Parts: sequence; structure tokens; C-alpha cells
Amino acid sequence: ISLKPYNTFGVDVKSSLFAEVFSIEALKGLLGMDVVRQNRLLVLGGGSNLLFTKDFDGLVIKISIPGISATTDTDGERVLVTAGAGVVWNDLVNYCVVNGYAGIENLSLIPGTVGASPIQNIGAYGVELKDVFHSCTAYEIATAEERTFKFEDCKFGYRDSTFKNELKGRYIITAVSFKLNRQAQLNTSYGAIQAELQNRHILQPTIADISKVVAHIRVSKLPDPSTIGNAGSFFKNPVISQAQFKEVLTKFPDIVHYPAADQKVKLAAGWLIEQCGFKGKVVGETGTWKNQALVLVNHGAATGQEVYDFSEEIIRTVYARFGVELEREVNIL
Ligand code: EPU
Repeated sequence: ISLKPYNTFGVDVKSSLFAEVFSIEALKGLLGMDVVRQNRLLVLGGGSNLLFTKDFDGLVIKISIPGISATTDTDGERVLVTAGAGVVWNDLVNYCVVNGYAGIENLSLIPGTVGASPIQNIGAYGVELKDVFHSCTAYEIATAEERTFKFEDCKFGYRDSTFKNELKGRYIITAVSFKLNRQAQLNTSYGAIQAELQNRHILQPTIADISKVVAHIRVSKLPDPSTIGNAGSFFKNPVISQAQFKEVLTKFPDIVHYPAADQKVKLAAGWLIEQCGFKGKVVGETGTWKNQALVLVNHGAATGQEVYDFSEEIIRTVYARFGVELEREVNIL
């Protein structure tokens, strides 16, 4: 079948086999079948963090397990919210905002599903999934056995977790639980949030205000995948050593950077790419977004290979100029 509706880049490739799973029972049934052992597998959520460069010769399993539930602890302050892996991430954010459960409002409008959210530890505007993650339930593909992953088991890092490393391709996440608060502790550290709150004369923001402001910022900077194919940031923001940073700083004193863990420095990849003259550049059917150079787009009929080749050119050019190697954030298939 065509995978075009199943990837936000809107690349038109095919898979030989396809299954959509709506319940745990159905997943267990599927994992018991020979077709799972005899084929390459690709587990899909919203398809919002991948680029197909060719047809997929194997079985695509789309996870559409629904459901959101919440339990409040006895003091009424903390809430444990559990959502099925197939829940659209932003539907979960809206559910929490409407019910007054604080913690994920900064993650408004991130594309994709709940089940995919721990895999790359999604993050935006000063908050990462790991800040609110409680646990997740997953099924081992090889044995169809259930396992619960606690926070420590996941080894979260910047756009990273055990599910991208040691356990890559071994488990299918079926539900995720989040620890949220009734008493909002807002994170307005991000400059653009502060500016937009001021702009709106909001002095004491609610989580609904934060959600609206973040959505506004995202819409103004990022292309809407339903009209312009894309997968958000195509590269990670590179993290470099102090020594390397000092070196680039002498040549590029205005380089945009942030402190990172372990005394390291994180650079703004979008800035590096823009400095190389790529911002808003159109190359055939692909290019970078006019308001955010870190986002590669499909202007309509791009092939995955075309997007990939363009990303290679960006990596080469940025390296030649800054000596910094960009790493792709999007999964290439
Ligand atoms: N910048 C430029 N030119 C550009 C883009 C960015 O100069 O074309 C510079 C600006 O100085 C800006 C800085 O880079 O202040 C940071 O840009 P922005 O706030 O847009 O965030 P980002 O670092 O490019 C990261 C995440 C986004 C997330 C935003 C907001 C990564 C790889 N990306 O982007 O996440 O929404 O911060 O927190 O960490 C995603 O992962 O798909 C994603 C969209």
C-alpha cells in the first residue's frame, strides 16, 4: 500500500505489508503470527519523524491503540495520566489543558503520537518529555511479553532514549503514563514565550495561556505538515566540547549557543544552516523552511532521496564552514 498518508513528509513510497493495531489483544495476536518473524518490521506512530528514501520491503505496523485515563492522588495535587500509544500527542495535551493537568502545555502542537514520545524524548520550549514521564508499557516483539519501563530504565537524553539505542527495534510501546500537577508550575523560561505573553498583556498565565502561546509560536515558525510535508527539525542541535566551542567562537563571535550537560555547549543548528545561506532555499521539490532553516520540506513531489541528498549537502557545507558535524534527528529509511 502507499505510505504517503502515513508519513508527514508526504513521500510517496509503498510497503509490501501493512497492519494497523487498535488494541493490546490485536497486538498480541499479531506478534504471535509468522508474518512478524519472516519480515522486516517498521513500527509507526504518526510518521512524523521519518524520511522514506525508498519503498519498504516488509511489514509496517501502525499503532492506533486509543484511550486516556487519569487518577488523582489522595492529596488531590498530583495526577497520573495514562494514554494509549495511538493517541495523537496534541489530543493528550488538549485533554490535560482542559482538565487543568499541568506539565505538558509547553509541548503543544508537537506532531506524532503518545507511543512515539518517549523514543526520542520529545521536547520544546524549555520542557522535555522526561520531565513528566512516569512509566510506559511495552511488548517485546520476540516474545509478546509485557514489560513496564520506569524512568531510570529509559535512559533519556537530548532527543534520545534506550529505545533508540540498546533496545532499538525490540519493543512496541503500547501506553505511556505521565506525572502531572493540579497546581501549575509554569515553565516560561523560553524567551519567545515571555515575549508573546507580554505582547498579549498576560501577567498571570494559566496552562491554557501557555498552550495557546506555544501553538502561536509554532504556527508562525514551523510549516504545517498537512499542507507542506516536513518532519520538524531535520537535524539535532549539535553538542560540542568547551575546547571546540572556544575554537569556533574566535572565528564566529556571534554564534548562537546554550549551555548543555557535562560542561558541553549546544549550538543552534538552524543558525549554522542559515549562515551557510540555506534558509528558505528551494532545491527542486525540496528545500529548507523560510522561517526555520532547521526544517527541511517537501514542496509537493519530492522523493525521499532528493530530501536526503539535500541534507547531505547541508551537512557538508556546515562542516566546511564551522567544523561542526550535524547529525540527523529524523530516522532515514
Ligand atoms: N535560528 C536561526 N535561524 C533559523 C532557525 C533558528 O538563526 O533559521 C537560531 C535563532 O537564534 C533561534 C535559535 O536558533 O533563537 C533557536 O531556534 P528555535 O527556537 O526555533 O529552536 P531550535 O533550536 O531550532 C529546537 C527543537 C525544536 C523545538 C524548538 C523550541 C531540536 C532539534 N529542535 O529547535 O523541536 O520546537 O527548539 O524549543 O532540538 C523537533 O525536534 O522536531 C522540533 C521542532
